[in-house]
Amino acid sequence: MLDTFKKATPEALAAIRDEMKVRCTTEVFLLFALGSQFDHLIFQALAKLGVYGLVADPAKVTAADVELLKPIGIILSGGPASVHSEPPPFDSKIFDLSIPVLGICLGFQMWARHIGLTVQSGSRQFGVHTATVNNVSPLFANCLHIEQVLQSHGDEISTDIDRFKTLAVCGNSVAAGHERNLWGVQFHPEVTETKCGQTIFENFCFRICNAEDRFPAPDIAKQKIEKLRSEIGDKKVLLALSGGSDSSTVAYLLKAATRGKEQLRGVYIRGIDRPDDEEFVHKYFGDQNWIDLVIVDATDRFLAVLAGKTGMREKRLAMREVYKPVLEEQVRAFGAEFIAQGTLYTDISESGGGHDSGARKANIKIHHNTNLGFAFPELMPLSDCVKDGGRDIGREIGVPEELLVRHPFPGPGLVVRIEGEITPEKLAMARQLDGIYIEELRRAGLYEKVWQAGVVVTRSEHTYTAGDDAGTGSVICFWAVWSVNGFTAQAADLPFDFRKNLARRFGNEVHGIGAVVYRDSDKPRSTIEWG
Ligand code: XMP
Repeated sequence: MLDTFKKATPEALAAIRDEMKVRCTTEVFLLFALGSQFDHLIFQALAKLGVYGLVADPAKVTAADVELLKPIGIILSGGPASVHSEPPPFDSKIFDLSIPVLGICLGFQMWARHIGLTVQSGSRQFGVHTATVNNVSPLFANCLHIEQVLQSHGDEISTDIDRFKTLAVCGNSVAAGHERNLWGVQFHPEVTETKCGQTIFENFCFRICNAEDRFPAPDIAKQKIEKLRSEIGDKKVLLALSGGSDSSTVAYLLKAATRGKEQLRGVYIRGIDRPDDEEFVHKYFGDQNWIDLVIVDATDRFLAVLAGKTGMREKRLAMREVYKPVLEEQVRAFGAEFIAQGTLYTDISESGGGHDSGARKANIKIHHNTNLGFAFPELMPLSDCVKDGGRDIGREIGVPEELLVRHPFPGPGLVVRIEGEITPEKLAMARQLDGIYIEELRRAGLYEKVWQAGVVVTRSEHTYTAGDDAGTGSVICFWAVWSVNGFTAQAADLPFDFRKNLARRFGNEVHGIGAVVYRDSDKPRSTIEWG
């Protein structure tokens, strides 16, 4: 994973100074990752500004370490903990070092509590809100007076102490504040829903911390290809291909890093996939001189391990019992020495991993491609990217646009879009529904306007009447979201006529449907996939 600052040992300090030389800067920012799902987005926001951000382990780094490193600014992320119960480990003397601090959500509450403000529980705000902002303050320079922000918190800072300057409010709640060297926002500037987020980071770095250096963006694709080339050498690589943008981008990175077909094979696993995935894999990776393609039909194996399992987590775990051995068998068959996957940072982070920190991180769902414990070394060149960054790399190295704009493939495929036991009938139903939905989205010119869309076969039943007949059938739920990187998402506002026609088509063409509903919730609260 990414390098994390743990202790100011002479070796660690020398390595950081070397990195600073490469970046032609004398300035470093420390980012304390307190277990936030969005920690990497903060890291990316700093990279976009061209400043050097170093992730720090809150459980290990003390005020003495910080004094030795001399960062020009410190950022504390949010996190799943509360200042009241199990607060993340953090040396609060760091707040007293006179170095500017930007606390985000929990990070804000941590310094507020340190200076004696009250943090109270119970004021829950999740999702997009409107904040009224004091844009005379340097933190909000160039922001509007009214700004859209994303909130995701259960505690809030009380306003009842006049030592503290409120810089923004959201309804009756404090949304931003300032005291001495300490700055804080209750909302999340790192997500795209907060329109002025990047401006806030820019203000913090350049107006508050007085940063002066901006280094140019590195040629990330080139660096990744060089790294792959030196790791792989003459050995063979087996790549898991899904037909989506991430594994396709990895295929093109490997195309540049290997000698082609004799060294590179892609495997596509059939069984729980969407109706058009295999078609895309054939179109772009079949009959090529630079990659060999193998299709494995694992339908029966998937159905066998999924039989009798009803909970989403157990089904996710069961699906991995096929995914992993199939890939290992294919590695052996090809005589390869590496397994490559299109795993993103989002997958690692949602599975409870990511930046190495002593803070607790929520395990939202175990993604199909993380911590599999393969018997072979893995290559995951996009594991430090999120979706939009991965797509940018793909564009840079010539991945066809049609592949890049495909909706993300959920690793466990249709398994996460079926509630209860996965049977051949339910699988066929989910596949037919997906086919109709995607066809209609394309026909209406909406496919590329939404980020991802799916249909879920729920466990609920609904009475139906059709012609002169009647009975009960499944409630199916379709959803569509707008997003940039999958960490947050908004329910898409699909036109009513589109929804109504779609519901009619589902009911008329797919056997066994009792009712059709649309999901209106954003992330947060709901994850994008049902399971
Ligand atoms: P959620 O549903 O957690 O998902 O909001 C965010 C994005 O990740 C996809 N997803 C997965 N992708 N393996 C993957 O490669 C998985 O196990 C997995 N689960 C969810 C999901 O489709 C969405 O795009």
